[in-house]
Amino acid sequence: MQEGFVIWFTGLSGSGKTTLAKEVERLLRARGLRYVQRLDGDVVRQDLTRDLGFSKEDRDENIHRVTFVAELLSKNGVATTCAFISPYRAARQTARRRCHNFVEVYVQCPLDVLIQRDPKGLYKKALAGEIKGFTGIDDPYETPEHPEIVVHTDRETVEESTLRLLALLEEKGLIPTANENTASAQVPAGEGR
Ligand code: ADX
Repeated sequence: MQEGFVIWFTGLSGSGKTTLAKEVERLLRARGLRYVQRLDGDVVRQDLTRDLGFSKEDRDENIHRVTFVAELLSKNGVATTCAFISPYRAARQTARRRCHNFVEVYVQCPLDVLIQRDPKGLYKKALAGEIKGFTGIDDPYETPEHPEIVVHTDRETVEESTLRLLALLEEKGLIPTANENTASAQVPAGEGR
């Protein structure tokens, strides 16, 4: 059976968590993994946690519910990616404790770059005081102390970051190596090397 694991992307809004999670998902499928599921704040908050806002209590509840889902998926052989700001260390710590093969990815990007990017226009609103309690502006983000990997989206391409992450998953024995997969994919049955 496929080994389950959780790749937990944490970082500020606009840092690139969703982009990376989607690309990792694509690459995992290309490696032959059949069971891959992405859990993403922007999506989950429209359904499973649509009753929640952005107070500390609500963010903790958001992560609590998602942790429950990620735990079930990872314990049943699913490669699970999670993309949530998840600003509080304690909540991430709980997710780490409960999920099977938890890999924390700190998606790092300087605030000034995020303010320039601002694809959803939320930083502009937060800086103007139109959104209160925006992470990184007037709400806390507790940086990870011991993430398995840190990616720097201001100076690494998506490809560079995801390949580093996949190499780590290989090292941990969670996914087949690129060569193993290429070999089985390219050598037709019955034709040897
Ligand atoms: S978390 O803090 O509970 O982990 P989550 O990742 O689910 O947050 O959702 C973050 C997304 O909600 C942001 O990318 C942004 O689009 C939106 N958002 C709306 N209000 C806020 C806010 N006050 N702080 C951060 N993100 C917000």
